[in-house]
Amino acid sequence: MQNADLKELLLLLQAWYWKGHRDLPWRNTKNPYHIWVSEIMLQQTRVEAVKPYYARFLQELPTIADLAEAEEEVILKLWEGLGYYSRVRNMQTAAKQIMEQHGGKMPKDHKALLQLKGIGSYTAGAIASIAFDLPYAAVDGNVLRVLSRVYADDRDILLQQTKKAWEMELNMVLTEEIAGDVTQALMELGATVCVPNGMPKCEICPWRMHCIAYAENTMLQYPVKTEKKPRTKVNLSVCFLTDGEKIALRKRPSKGLLANLWELPNIGKEYPLPAALVEWGIPKANIMTMKAQKHIFTHIEWHMDCYYILVEQKEKNPFTWVKWTDMTEQYALPSAFKKIWQEGLQKMEQNEQISLM
Ligand code: ADE
Repeated sequence: MQNADLKELLLLLQAWYWKGHRDLPWRNTKNPYHIWVSEIMLQQTRVEAVKPYYARFLQELPTIADLAEAEEEVILKLWEGLGYYSRVRNMQTAAKQIMEQHGGKMPKDHKALLQLKGIGSYTAGAIASIAFDLPYAAVDGNVLRVLSRVYADDRDILLQQTKKAWEMELNMVLTEEIAGDVTQALMELGATVCVPNGMPKCEICPWRMHCIAYAENTMLQYPVKTEKKPRTKVNLSVCFLTDGEKIALRKRPSKGLLANLWELPNIGKEYPLPAALVEWGIPKANIMTMKAQKHIFTHIEWHMDCYYILVEQKEKNPFTWVKWTDMTEQYALPSAFKKIWQEGLQKMEQNEQISLM
């Protein structure tokens, strides 16, 4: 089989996209701010999970100016549960850049987009093509998968040079007439047909007649990815500390994983818990074991032994004590602690210290 011409493939793909696709909230707009928000949310998160966050974010912060001026706690709360919080912090920095350097309007220029904090070549390409019809590609893992398969291309897609090469090839053949549709259609193909896990649905693929991997029945051998390093395991003892009314929270350091977010107090498992309690100024406490939990980040795994700790006095200690209702409304707690939080609240309810109703 001959290598298909890339431009021809993209035209076929555009025609396929026009015939029908998922009706997603960010597909009914050309507003570059809305498209930016959607693309940042979608980078690490599934479409179905993003939908409610997208609606709420734009309702609370309808303009770039609103995002630029929002309190950090507010933007973190709007992002609570999505993970990768640096995404929204970077968006706010970029919003400030847009206010200062572009009069509050998203620049209609690929190079200028790339200057904004948190906007790399994928996001710049997505905004440029979808919002402004500029001929730039948005190449992510989905796009690399479908292109690797159709050409049976065995270059490692985790290498920057592979991604760069595909961006250049696409940019050479994109035009203003097709760029926006092609960006969306490549996503659509990757999400609904040429899927990442399990067998692709080749029988309904618009590229079936041109796909070398399909012809050779080697779809699952592509894309080629080198083995990743195993994640670092971190063992923690996590404490749901309560006096029966309030719960102890601590702010994480301003650098590193989950920077500046709130957390349940915790220490490395190698430290004895009673000693830590004394150090925290909590000498008298009733310690009960809760279910152990695991949370997986990109490069780190947390293995957490969890404790429900009823404290007798809490005058001098380094924590912020909050009511559970205030927590729900004001403080953003990372997903890693959510199950422990829920179990802790249930225990408080069982002990008739609070009513969750
Ligand atoms: N994933 C990343 N961007 C997307 C988009 N615009 N539509 C659907 N899925 C996506």
